[in-house]
Amino acid sequence: MANVFVTRKIPESGLKLLQKKHTVRVYSKDQVIPRRELIKGVKWADALLCLLTDKIDKKVLAANPYLKVISNYAVGYDNIDIDAAAEAGIPVTNTPGVLTQSVAEHTAALAVALAKRVAEADSFTRKGSYKGWEPMLLLGTELRGKTFGVVGLGRIGSAVADIMHKGFGMDIVYFDIKKDKTFEKRVKATFEAVPQLLKKSDIVSIHVPLLDSTHHLIGARQFRSMKKSALLVNTSRGPVIDEKALVAALKNKTIRGAALDVFEFEPKLTKGLAKLPNVILTPHTASATEEAREAMSLIAAENILAVLSGKKPKYLVKK
Ligand code: GLV
Ligand code: GLV
Repeated sequence: MANVFVTRKIPESGLKLLQKKHTVRVYSKDQVIPRRELIKGVKWADALLCLLTDKIDKKVLAANPYLKVISNYAVGYDNIDIDAAAEAGIPVTNTPGVLTQSVAEHTAALAVALAKRVAEADSFTRKGSYKGWEPMLLLGTELRGKTFGVVGLGRIGSAVADIMHKGFGMDIVYFDIKKDKTFEKRVKATFEAVPQLLKKSDIVSIHVPLLDSTHHLIGARQFRSMKKSALLVNTSRGPVIDEKALVAALKNKTIRGAALDVFEFEPKLTKGLAKLPNVILTPHTASATEEAREAMSLIAAENILAVLSGKKPKYLVKK
């Protein structure tokens, strides 16, 4: 029996699985765990199941040199100091795959809602501003034949491209650190370097992990290179976009609109962002479906069980 510390209540499936074999303690309050409590939990634990809202840095790692595994309940793991964990010899795992469909569907929903101005139309109607049909009221754009640019062709980026190509007849351009010929064939996609992709795309969708090299990947200069009619969607990590520059670009109509599920200073919003009519904001809920969250819970638990029984976990994070 080992001690498994879980930093916040997650769906039951994984907790039940862990409880069969181990002593499981879940932080009792439904809030982001305070640092003191996190460190206390890590000290007690053999295995840590943590969330993307928990910063696992050197100090947390130092609390327990005997920690055997860190299982992140997320696909992204920029909340964990991976180098420090490697140095301490602690394997880190994540939950890819099972949230791909949910995040891809959410991304598509945001892209379509932006093009069709769904959020603006909803608030217009709720406010009582609708006084009768008008020929020029809230005109949006069609998607068919327009260009959808995918920045970062992982599982999620490629699933989004499938939906936008097969469902909406969009032309796909993509950038990644490597080309994917199978993908290119499947959705008739063209590879472009980021500057060309930004110039050509009617909708740009971001699917890169947060790294030093992707921090502020999209900023003032990039917005200026985009079409005036361009729409931007981000369901990856907030700091990939320079949010202050985005607010300015939207205000000045450098681009037409943006939909964000993640924020540079999450959960805080950059000043002015929430006041803009041409943005759609969701609270990091792209993976928030019952299906994805239960599956993430199971995988996060299975990753722990594997390590604790001396096996290689299915989703080991590599440096
Ligand atoms: C969500 O953002 C995740 O990385 O799982
Ligand atoms: C995450 O699952 C990704 O590879 O995009």
